[in-house]
Parts: sequence; C-alpha cells; structure tokens
Amino acid sequence: MNHYSQGKFTKQAHKNIPDGHYEEEQGLKGFFGPVSHLIKSKPSTNWSKIDGNLKPRSFDINLLTKKKEQKLLLHNQQLRISSLVCHPSSEKKQSASRSADGDLVFFCQNGSGKILTEYGLLEYKSGTYIVIPKCISYLIFPKETSWFLVIENLNSHYQQPDRGLLGRNAIYDVDSLGKPNLENLYSFLKEKNIEVKQIKVKHNQDYTNFFYEEEIFNVVGWKGDLFPFTLSVYDLMPVMSHRVHLPPSVHTTFVAKDFIICTFVPRPMESDADALKVPFYHQNIDYDEVLFYHKGDFFSRDNIKPGMLTFHPAGFPHGPHPKAVKAVSDKKLTDEYAVMIDSAFPLLRSNLMTEIENTDYVNSWK
Ligand SMILES: [Fe+2]
Repeated sequence: MNHYSQGKFTKQAHKNIPDGHYEEEQGLKGFFGPVSHLIKSKPSTNWSKIDGNLKPRSFDINLLTKKKEQKLLLHNQQLRISSLVCHPSSEKKQSASRSADGDLVFFCQNGSGKILTEYGLLEYKSGTYIVIPKCISYLIFPKETSWFLVIENLNSHYQQPDRGLLGRNAIYDVDSLGKPNLENLYSFLKEKNIEVKQIKVKHNQDYTNFFYEEEIFNVVGWKGDLFPFTLSVYDLMPVMSHRVHLPPSVHTTFVAKDFIICTFVPRPMESDADALKVPFYHQNIDYDEVLFYHKGDFFSRDNIKPGMLTFHPAGFPHGPHPKAVKAVSDKKLTDEYAVMIDSAFPLLRSNLMTEIENTDYVNSWK
C-alpha cells in the first residue's frame, strides 16, 4: 500500500506535533508493520467511562511476596509469568529443579545469591536476568531472600535480539554475559557441604522427582553454545536518538517466537526541541503489553512503584499520563528500570490477580 495523507500531519513521526494536539500511532506487528500517525485534538486516553473487560490494569506484586512460593500471574499457551520468592536455607540435602516445559528467564527484583547448574555456578543480584534453557538442572541458593519475576517460554527458545545495522556489540555485548563456572560450583558445594541427589522436573505443569544415589552435579567439563547465563540490566547499552523518540522495540533484550522481553534503563531524553519526549499514544494493536517496574522514577506513569506490574491488553489505547506530559520538559534523563513483556497472543490473568489489582488505575489518565 502506498503512503497517503490528508489534513494536518507531520513529515517525521514523533516530531513537531502541532501545539495542543496529540499524535497517535496505529501500527501493525508491533513497531514493524504498516503504520499511520493520527494527529488528534484530544488524546484517545481521555475516556469518561469504560464498560467492559478491555481495560488497563495495575497490580501490586509486592503483596504476593510474603510466602516462599511461586505464584502464577499471567499466562497463555506460549508463556507463563509468575512471581517467585526464595529464602536462604541451611539444609544440607537440597533438591535441584528442571523445566521440561520450556526455557526460563528469572529476573531478580530483590536479593542476591548463587545458582548452581550442571554447567557451573552463576551469581545474581538485584537487576540480574538469569536464563536457564529447557531441561537444564539448576538450584537457586539465595544469600538473602530473593524475589524473581519468572518468564517461562513454552513454545520456543530464547534468542538474542537481531542487532542488524547497530552492529554485533550493540544493546549488550555478549562478553558482558555472566557465564557458568564449574570450578566455582565445586568449591561452593564443598564449602557449604551440601549434597544434591534429587531433581524435581516440571513437565506439562506436573512435577516428577528423580532420586539418585550420588551427587547430581557431577559434570567434569563441557563445550557447546547451549548453557545457562546471566545478564545484568546495568550492562545494557540503551539505543537512542537525540532527534526522535524511538519505539520500545529498540530496547529488546530477549526474543521468543510469540513474545519479546524488553528492558527500559536510564537514558538521556531527546534533545531536539521539536521531538516528542514521552512514549507516543498507541494501542499495541497486535500485542498484549506487560510492564514490571524494577527501580527508579517511572516518568510516563502515575502512582507506580517498584514491584508493581501493569497490563495493557491489545486494542486498549494508551500513552503517557497527563502529569508526565507536563513534567517532561524539565527532564534531561529518564531514571527508570523496567521489564516489558509483549505477547502476540492474549494473556489470561490468574485468579489471584483480582486480590492485588488497583481498580482505580483506569482513572489515572484523567
Ligand atoms: Fe504500549
């Protein structure tokens, strides 16, 4: 289809929006498909009432962290998002875990510790992603109580983003990944005097325990390009343009077949006087959008604190909160760390989410 335009429009998206007007992007396939930019006299977030289920929702996941348990938050056939709290343990006999359902990403919100894997020892702290490919045995060994957002990939394997024209070292350099260390694993097992002779395997959401007579961490060496690793959000190199607001897809961290994980980290604001400095209004037409707030000041959203999660289903128009639009002119830098999960298929909320929902969130654009 050829480009077509009429009425008021801007020659460059996200720049030079006429005073008192709002730009809304209507685009397919995330930020890669056919797209139009509508200049509106009122933002499409100025609803007076929404009657139905297609609503923006916000949840305080902090309220679920009191117990040691994995709690399912959102799910579909392609992914499961849950909250997991692990406490330090002085037990000498420990059990490892393995997921036969899919690759796992753990994002550490709070805490620190080690993860024992067949490939070696990994270390984590607040802000670390831990990627455990499907069927690799692991054991989380917290030094202090640790809270993770867990993203299970049920129908594909996590890949790195395509860096294309940005070059191979953009977004994050693969040399900044934390690699498993076998020597550290064995000295840690010896120092803590723990033995691991059991593996709890999850398959089709059902658990089976495998018992062994001997230590299961018995690998003496390995080679290959499949292994667990960590990535700290502090090693991310955000892509930006000083002239124009770039779409969230430039902040992609991991890619799955039917969803992506992006990370927002602090970056300078656009410096061109006519550049839009807040996310443009849009409906994420082909994706359900989940944001988990890690740390900082979430400039485009109101009343959001670390440990909260917002859920914007596809088709729901959204954009910056009114206060953010006013406050942005003084800002030189963003100061926010957040994890975004964009799912190509609709996500269902677990029953438990009703208990921790802030039902007033829908009114926060007023
Ligand atoms: Fe969005």
